[in-house]
Amino acid sequence: MPATDSKVLEVIELTKVFRDFWGRESVKAVNGLNLDVKRGEVFGLLGPNGSGKTTVVRIILGLLFPTRGAVRVFGRGPRNVDVKKRVGYMPEESHLYSYLNAEETLDFFGRLFRLRAGERRRRTSALIDMVGLKRARKRPLGQYSKGMARRIGLAQALINDPDLLILDEPTTGLDPIGAREMKDLILTLRDRGKTIFLCSHLLGDVEEICDRICILYGGRRRALGPVEELLAAQDMTQIRAPRLDQSALQQIADVVRRATGRDDAIEVSTPTRPLEDYFLGVVEEARRERISTPGAEAGTAAAGFLLGPEPEGEELLEELVQAGQEQDAAPEPVAVEAASAIPVAQDDELIEALVRRAADTEVEPQTVEEPGAAIAPETVVRKDVIDELVDEAHEAGEADEDEVS
Ligand SMILES: Nc1ncnc2c1ncn2[C@@H]1O[C@H](COP(=O)(O)OP(=O)(O)OP(=O)(O)O)[C@@H](O)[C@H]1O
Ligand SMILES: [Mg+2]
Repeated sequence: MPATDSKVLEVIELTKVFRDFWGRESVKAVNGLNLDVKRGEVFGLLGPNGSGKTTVVRIILGLLFPTRGAVRVFGRGPRNVDVKKRVGYMPEESHLYSYLNAEETLDFFGRLFRLRAGERRRRTSALIDMVGLKRARKRPLGQYSKGMARRIGLAQALINDPDLLILDEPTTGLDPIGAREMKDLILTLRDRGKTIFLCSHLLGDVEEICDRICILYGGRRRALGPVEELLAAQDMTQIRAPRLDQSALQQIADVVRRATGRDDAIEVSTPTRPLEDYFLGVVEEARRERISTPGAEAGTAAAGFLLGPEPEGEELLEELVQAGQEQDAAPEPVAVEAASAIPVAQDDELIEALVRRAADTEVEPQTVEEPGAAIAPETVVRKDVIDELVDEAHEAGEADEDEVS
């Protein structure tokens, strides 16, 4: 991994000014922002409505150009193709195709990343299990509840096994179980070396999972640092103990009085359990009683492909050569053909060309399916629709290089 990977994200003197129709400055959404995000941390960007969070995210994703300053992702510009392959994004509102179902949606995004059919199917199935939508996987997304749409939005953001995951309001709209799962998943991915950058208004969630936070106000940075450091009440001491009787409490009060010289320095109360724990207990009980629900179910642990290293370099080449050889219908193995077309290509370029070629020459899913696995009828029916959408998206991606504004 390149040395710059320790700094996954750098925001340098970033300013974004939105202008009106006549080119006059209308809103300074971000104003001279500086921050770094390191590999393997969960970083939270907070701030009131309209303070510039989503604008920063859109610049990090290369969807908007900065007016001044710069953003570096893995040491490069955010619009670099290799950078985009390593980033996953869950927007604050999912704009997914409402007539596609969960499987088709993930297949569509898998194709945008030019994943091979077998890999797309494996990842789609693992991610649908992970976000608890197995039973709803054939329903069009237009029929999903808000929280179910968030869940499929998360699955979509993970289809390319990103190293940097950007989440705009990840727990908003989720039920407490979904929120718990989302938080656990974020922490699991962090522990596996992935970097998570999130925006949120849910301060309890932020406090629980973020290593460092930045608070924006009017596009400017007002606070930045490790959560524990920023929140520590330096002038207080907290002691937790099993339930104590009246005489023990009296003795402690005497000690505190002597140490502080104050009569009112101690406060005694029974701690309450977090509502989240209580809620999860009630739902768990309903599940044990097998009460049915048409909504989202409990998700599984993080999908396996997100946790292990992906095949790289030689391994990937080998896999692609094998895939080419499996395609009996193709006149020549894919890898040989592609390699001879670009004899002086560097490793990276070659792999990219091979991936592209493998995607281009892909045969119908049935022919590369593992033995025994059935194709859902809906997948076949909608394949032409997805093909069209993928083509459109690729064409748009290639044509709109200058379209961000
Ligand atoms: N495309 C745009 N054109 C003009 N102004 C914009 C545009 N996008 C955002 N803004 C303005 O920039 C400011 C910051 O907006 P932004 O969406 O970044 O805020 P936010 O912190 O994400 O807010 P929220 O918490 O409500 O999601 C707002 O005043 C907003 O109206
Ligand atoms: Mg926003």
